[in-house]
Amino acid sequence: MKVLSKHDFNDFIDALISDETYHTHGVKSKGEKFVFGPLESHQDLRLDYDTTILPPKKYFLPQYETLIECPLSSPFEIKAEHHEKPIIIIGVHPYDIIAINQMDAYYFNEDISKSYLERRKNTIIIGSDIINTHDKAFFGSMNTAHVDTGYDLFITDLGDKVAIEIGSDRGQHLMQKAARVREATDVETQKVKALRLAAQGKAKRGMKIEPNQWYSLLDQNYESNVWKQQSEKCLACNTCTLVCPTCFCYDVNDEIDLKGNSKRVRTWDGCMLRQFTEVAGGEVFREDIKERYRHRFFRKGKYLPDRLGFTACVGCGRCSIQCIPDIADPVKVMNLVFDASESFVEDLETKPKSIPVETVEVNEEDAKPLHHPMPATITNIKKLTEREKLYEIELDSGDALHHMPGQFVEVSIMGAGEAPISIASPPKKKRFDLVIRNVGEVTNKIHAMKKGDTIGIRGPFGNGFNEEELKGHDLLFIAAGLGLPPLRSLIAHVLDKEHRKDYGKITILCGCRQPCEVLFDNEIKTWNSIEDVNILRTVDKCPDGECWEGDTGLITKLIPKAKFNPKQTMCMIIGPPVVYPFCIQILLDLGVPENHILVSLERRMKCGVGKCGHCQINNLYVCKDGPVFNYHDIKDLPEAFA
Ligand SMILES: Cc1cc2nc3c(=O)[nH]c(=O)nc-3n(C[C@H](O)[C@H](O)[C@H](O)COP(=O)(O)OP(=O)(O)OC[C@H]3O[C@@H](n4cnc5c(N)ncnc54)[C@H](O)[C@@H]3O)c2cc1C
Ligand code: SF4
Ligand code: SF4
Ligand code: FES
Repeated sequence: MKVLSKHDFNDFIDALISDETYHTHGVKSKGEKFVFGPLESHQDLRLDYDTTILPPKKYFLPQYETLIECPLSSPFEIKAEHHEKPIIIIGVHPYDIIAINQMDAYYFNEDISKSYLERRKNTIIIGSDIINTHDKAFFGSMNTAHVDTGYDLFITDLGDKVAIEIGSDRGQHLMQKAARVREATDVETQKVKALRLAAQGKAKRGMKIEPNQWYSLLDQNYESNVWKQQSEKCLACNTCTLVCPTCFCYDVNDEIDLKGNSKRVRTWDGCMLRQFTEVAGGEVFREDIKERYRHRFFRKGKYLPDRLGFTACVGCGRCSIQCIPDIADPVKVMNLVFDASESFVEDLETKPKSIPVETVEVNEEDAKPLHHPMPATITNIKKLTEREKLYEIELDSGDALHHMPGQFVEVSIMGAGEAPISIASPPKKKRFDLVIRNVGEVTNKIHAMKKGDTIGIRGPFGNGFNEEELKGHDLLFIAAGLGLPPLRSLIAHVLDKEHRKDYGKITILCGCRQPCEVLFDNEIKTWNSIEDVNILRTVDKCPDGECWEGDTGLITKLIPKAKFNPKQTMCMIIGPPVVYPFCIQILLDLGVPENHILVSLERRMKCGVGKCGHCQINNLYVCKDGPVFNYHDIKDLPEAFA
């Protein structure tokens, strides 16, 4: 540990500020509050602050960030990413450094964002010990008053002098700007330790459980009355997630400026907002405020511990400071759940690692711009119905998509946005098919396009059907409405001469609302003529004057009519959310084992790579863990078929 006199420390800060190689930011006052912002002199720096309004996450995940910028007329002339000067942030409290370490664990976990990595590499963190504590903070209860990793320098204000710990080579390099640095004496080192201990003791606030016990408490109390009672007061303003250093969800939207330039912009988003899970057609997967309110706590205390091994709350108290009806405070809420808990097991599991988490090592070569689409050409368009068209697409690179049946791509139209669309053709083809229903902004633009036009493609994404799991079985396909295109990919694959021998009898059940909405009529007839393939079809209703040879009624009616051996058959269901519970129940009643039922679930999707948080079903990300799931694995997830 090094020590500088206060005078020399102030000169050091001024030397950093005047060095034009860096932007130097730090904590400064704003009225009676504190913010991270640019420093003009050492006098701006307030190491005596209690907490800042916003956490430093804004430096790594800005509130508003242009991901792609290009002329609308030339959507793949993507302007090079903007490289900023390195930035120094001075005065970051330990709990906020831990939150940054957690953000790293989240963003460096598979699919690494190049822009996040660049910002992270470009930022020098000078941490500081906590001198004053906000009365809402509870970092003492969360064991986050001290941190060992994640900073370049770490300072402790000792009044007339400042102690400095060096955490990295970059920190060491910066210290060259400091004059008259000396080693700390034993007394000074003890003083720093005492100050840390005091900080830890100050912010306890009577939390009745340990941070690594949140998991079990929540696990046992999904149906607690606390969620409803508290959420009734919620204004759904989303402030609690915006100010939280461990809430990282985002939205992506397109904007067009007056010069005809298109921007794809990423902004902070939060699960407390109703539209967070809203998909085309108006379905909202967490409609009730109680569900959204509960999700916020479960994400912190159960879902992220499940995926990444840490409790995602550092006890900064910001949510509690900002929440007008005072219902966001984790201390209050965890204590309420604890007090109301009937099934609470005293010997609590300590499943998540206790925080702090260590800094994450990352292979820089794995980082890529996650939101950049590949140019692709529409090589053919066929109108299927009044609302759906079949698009044949080829990547301009000439490469095949290399997808699995059941996977999806993000189709991108600059200026409009992106839409997740299932791949409707088998993997063998170099060109791939998409069936797109015209429902809104993006799909409307695609429907206005012609053969030869260029679109953007990201993907393929997600988990498709596991071929090995299906081999050796009879197959039953249940395709309701737009469920047929993704199943067509698998059906065509298993009917291919090369693969047919790997599967037994094939039964395909197709349903849609009325005859004019039937997709792939001729293709279905061709499949029906193949040996050992049996097809049953239905429409909900057949209006007068229309011709229909199949059944009439819901698709569920077809299942008992299909002749299949329940124990020997793998069943694939894709359709609108409403069909799943009914079809699954009939299959189970017929004796189909739970692990022989595969479903593909739809959710709102923005990133496709497990970062934006929109597609979450309890602890699963549909874009990464799905969209194809084995029913057995998700049957107990309350949000799966809600
Ligand atoms: C895994 C998956 C596979 C799909 N496969 C198909 C398919 O094969 N064919 C097909 O026609 N449709 C499919 N959809 C639905 C399709 O993604 C939506 O209809 C489409 O996103 C609507 O976009 P829009 O801008 O035209 O509609 P709008 O209603 O204008 O959308 C408004 C906003 O909501 C967003 N949005 C709406 N629905 C969704 C959604 N499901 N996911 C993400 N964002 C959404 C859009 O990005 C847009 O910003 C699939 C959805 C998912 C999740
Ligand atoms: S809990 Fe509080 S801050 Fe969060 S959305 Fe509800 S009212 Fe807003
Ligand atoms: S949940 Fe509240 S106290 Fe916990 S890290 Fe987020 S803002 Fe801070
Ligand atoms: S996390 Fe972004 S779409 Fe799944």
